[in-house]
Amino acid sequence: ALISMRQLLDHAAEHGYGVPAFNVNNLEQMRAIMEAADKTDSPVIVQASAGARKYAGAPFLRHLILAAVEEFPHIPVVMHQDHGTSPAVCQRSIQLGFSSVMMDGSLGEDGKTPTSYDYNVDVTRRTVEMAHACGVSVEGELGCLGSLETGQAGEEDGVGAEGTLDHSQMLTDPEEAADFVQKTQVDALAIAIGTSHGAYKFTRPPTGDILAIEQIKKIHARIPDTHLVMHGSSSVPQDWLDIINQYGGEIPETYGVPVEEIVEGIKHGVRKVNIDTDLRLASTGAVRRFLSENPAEFDPRKFLKETMKAMTDLCVARYEAFGTAGNA
Ligand code: G3H
Ligand code: 13P
Ligand code: NA
Ligand code: ZN
Repeated sequence: ALISMRQLLDHAAEHGYGVPAFNVNNLEQMRAIMEAADKTDSPVIVQASAGARKYAGAPFLRHLILAAVEEFPHIPVVMHQDHGTSPAVCQRSIQLGFSSVMMDGSLGEDGKTPTSYDYNVDVTRRTVEMAHACGVSVEGELGCLGSLETGQAGEEDGVGAEGTLDHSQMLTDPEEAADFVQKTQVDALAIAIGTSHGAYKFTRPPTGDILAIEQIKKIHARIPDTHLVMHGSSSVPQDWLDIINQYGGEIPETYGVPVEEIVEGIKHGVRKVNIDTDLRLASTGAVRRFLSENPAEFDPRKFLKETMKAMTDLCVARYEAFGTAGNA
């Protein structure tokens, strides 16, 4: 059944688990997520980005998610809009039947330019008023995703702030977070702790100076009743990078957010963990390997089946690691 984010994250907080929020763009991702959830008895958050809506079209995405709800009626599903850039964008998703929206007021309507605190409060508060009247949950964001290593915003895939950020913008302040939640009444708060979107998060396995799990603890201590969200939480599995590069890919050395660091965050209030890049890496690795090993094959279902298997295994691993398993 379709449920709101609030319902799911309240349950997650009560029982101390986290929920991966997987981005969905196509049938194969949707099936992989649901089959993994079915195997592990996990509740599901699927989220559609602006890029996904552009790729598949909003009606196709919506019906893909509704088809999942129909085929797996025993699994609770949150249909979430990722990174909305204005109240109007969120309103359209609410009208389409999304049960949760993100109003990312940390960036302007271009999705790139960092905004003032007052702007962020204003657009988020207005979105919450509209969404709550419809029984829809809202995720806000305070702070900008970006690399504490380089001071660069993670914009290599066109998602997130552009250019150079200062250190304080890249770490959400606990006092400001408390004020923001009180003024906006958001259901969940995305925080900045040094992660960024895409595959190029860290040039070395991250340590506390560049991946600030300690900041999560400070924020959670200040606002213990707020569900925290980690964006840019792909782990960038080294085994998938190796497979991609072994079969003709060229992805330079890079590191993501280790699963055990996310698990530490979940002990301190993180309830929603956004993952997109890991599914992309797994499917690309699976396609490259299959086509290279089976050069005479030309039925797309053959290699797409391989991508589904790779993504299902990855989703199962996250559901188990985050404690989502067994909570559907
Ligand atoms: O928000 C970041 C997600 O990875 C979505 O990326 O806009 O390329 O679909 P996308
Ligand atoms: P990744 O690029 O680390 O998968 O993050 C996805 C995300 O935060 C979507 O909002
Ligand atoms: Na989101
Ligand atoms: Zn994000």
